[in-house]
Amino acid sequence: MTAHFAKRGPVAVITLYNPPMNGLGLATRQAFMQALRQAEQDADVHAIVINGAGKQFCSGADIKEFGTDLTFAEPNLHTMIHAVEHATKPVVVALHGLTMGGGLELALGCHYRVVAAGTQIALPEVKLGLLPGAGGTQRLPRVLGVEPALNMIITGNSVPAEMLAQAPGQKLFDKLVPSAENILEEAVAFAESIADVRPLPQVRQLPCAHPQGEAYFQFARNMARGMARHLPAPVKCVDAVQVATQTRMDEGLLKERDLFLSLMMTPESRSLRHLFFAERATSKIADVPADTPLRPIQKVGIIGAGTMGGGIAMNFLNADIPVLLLEMKQEALDRGIATIRGNYEAQLKKGKLKADKLEQRMGLLHTTLDYADLKDADLVIEAVFEDMGVKEQVFRKLDEVCKPGCILASNTSTLDLDRIAAFTQRPQDVVGLHFFSPANVMKLLEVIRGAHTGKDVLATVMALAKKIRKIAVVSGVCDGFIGNRMVEQYLRQAGFLLDEGCTPQQVDRALEQFGFPMGPFRMSDLSGNDIGWAIRKRRYVERPGYRFSGTADKLCEMGRFGQKTGAGWYDYQAGKRDAQPSALVNQMIEDHRKEKGITPRKIGNDEIVKRLVLALVNEGARILEEGIASKSGDIDMVYIAGYGFPIHRGGPMHYANELGLNQVLTAMRGFAANPLDDAEFWQPAPLLQRLADEGRQFA
Ligand code: NAI
Repeated sequence: MTAHFAKRGPVAVITLYNPPMNGLGLATRQAFMQALRQAEQDADVHAIVINGAGKQFCSGADIKEFGTDLTFAEPNLHTMIHAVEHATKPVVVALHGLTMGGGLELALGCHYRVVAAGTQIALPEVKLGLLPGAGGTQRLPRVLGVEPALNMIITGNSVPAEMLAQAPGQKLFDKLVPSAENILEEAVAFAESIADVRPLPQVRQLPCAHPQGEAYFQFARNMARGMARHLPAPVKCVDAVQVATQTRMDEGLLKERDLFLSLMMTPESRSLRHLFFAERATSKIADVPADTPLRPIQKVGIIGAGTMGGGIAMNFLNADIPVLLLEMKQEALDRGIATIRGNYEAQLKKGKLKADKLEQRMGLLHTTLDYADLKDADLVIEAVFEDMGVKEQVFRKLDEVCKPGCILASNTSTLDLDRIAAFTQRPQDVVGLHFFSPANVMKLLEVIRGAHTGKDVLATVMALAKKIRKIAVVSGVCDGFIGNRMVEQYLRQAGFLLDEGCTPQQVDRALEQFGFPMGPFRMSDLSGNDIGWAIRKRRYVERPGYRFSGTADKLCEMGRFGQKTGAGWYDYQAGKRDAQPSALVNQMIEDHRKEKGITPRKIGNDEIVKRLVLALVNEGARILEEGIASKSGDIDMVYIAGYGFPIHRGGPMHYANELGLNQVLTAMRGFAANPLDDAEFWQPAPLLQRLADEGRQFA
């Protein structure tokens, strides 16, 4: 049974039991309704307490059923809430741990709520592009007031119960108890104390109004639009809460349901729901069982205190894991330490970190110039120069000094991990941990699985990634791994667009309107145009006939490496990041066209966006087919967490699914027919062609 019935004297106790979150799946809803009927029919029962087994009351829908017909199957959540609200005996709910979504909506249907301090309260549906669809938008404003309720609904963020309990005039909680330990006993005692009180209080009877009425809701709508330009759900949340102030409860519930169903159909919600599952699936690796024993990681060594080493170190310090930082020279160590301290001090100034925390974190950071000091590290991450010779020296040394079982990781962004592993006698212990810059900020971590990487090593670093709050995605070994391999094709297309008639501003604007925080040229200026230059020089040797626009090389020959040199595709004033269009660059592009005999044409935003995004899709399909990524959702997560792909589009592969793979192929055929583009470039990946032929999608 997924809900239990028990009796404590005159009080019936119904316990939701669907570990780990007590999700309200169909079986749980059925068992709950049966227990409620039993409590109603038992003449010895005078009051009913609902609670959750384990660490939480309930986090809402059962995600295993999410988006399936089972969610709506009877008894659905509405039926449950209606039943408790109209029960003839008082229903008291005992809240602890997480009380979210449908769990909170169920609680709002109960007559009384007893809550433990520390309980996290939230209606997070907006994060899935939805709104609370089981009365949350109608009942929460009645117990909490319109503004605080709308803030919770529109952000989806959780708020500690004790904070809400302090709100003046709140009717959300009838009793706050100091801890979750005795929550059930407290709720039973409360139930006994009110067992005879009639009439039974119902949230639906409470008034709901805002003194400024329409003016407030208009303001709230503008705020919601500003917060999430591309997402319809926040504005609909405002609409739903306004309804609560305008109509009777039953009408409000119907209107809320309509708004919920309309959001359910939006591509934005489909994208957010896809990403919700994709993120959870990244840590599932087909051939690595969930119960694979993990290696303990209590001490981390980092080689190289440069741009990446320092940022990587901060991740571990933030998670209270001691770090030993190794460099070649004391000055390099001093510089690295000063940067780390500087970053923490900046957080301190912004109020994001307390002074004692800063010192505690710095206290976990130790330095050395001697490899022998790494002898007791559990994990060593190398972040030295991107040069195979230097990597060889470092890994041979690590193999000598590190204890057996120590995981040896490389942060290389381009080099062959299997070659690096071969410098050691323990390739099973070698893995790639490709952090993105700035490593203390960027969420993405590509975990590179070498030919010999041990399953327990993979499982350990995936678990560790969670601890340091990264989104880790496994990639096989190939040039550029998942993210940079795809971005190379995206940037090649961006270059071809310049050849044909676009300016960098035009391309950037189109991609920014699509939802990227910055277009390809501003992005290249930020990361450094010299990086792409080095890659292209390699490609000219390795892959004759593989085309790039010549403009990027010309830009680098002008010394315009991007923000760091104050000039790239754009001009930058000293110390500022605002990109100003550059007449010099635009002239260089025009001269380049003349040199190639190209007459420029006007190119629309739709073509610009499709050429860049479908370049990602086609390469993504190759990556999937080669097994470099094991699922298309992993590719989407790489692009969302590492490259600013707009979340409301769900990642490149999801976007292609939404377009329809046949449409994708039709567009690609059109691009291939353009003599100034590259027909070879637009050869569909065999997997893409096959899936489209079979009427299937990326999965
Ligand atoms: P960096 O040049 O800023 O830092 C490298 C540091 O390693 C320097 O402080 C240097 O003194 C030290 N070092 C060099 N050889 C050493 C040795 N034998 N023993 C100890 N220390 C040594 O380089 P950055 O940018 O931090 O890159 C490091 C690695 O991270 C490279 O493999 C790079 O490809 C990779 N990476 C860089 C990204 C970036 O955006 N900078 C992004 C992702 C990966």
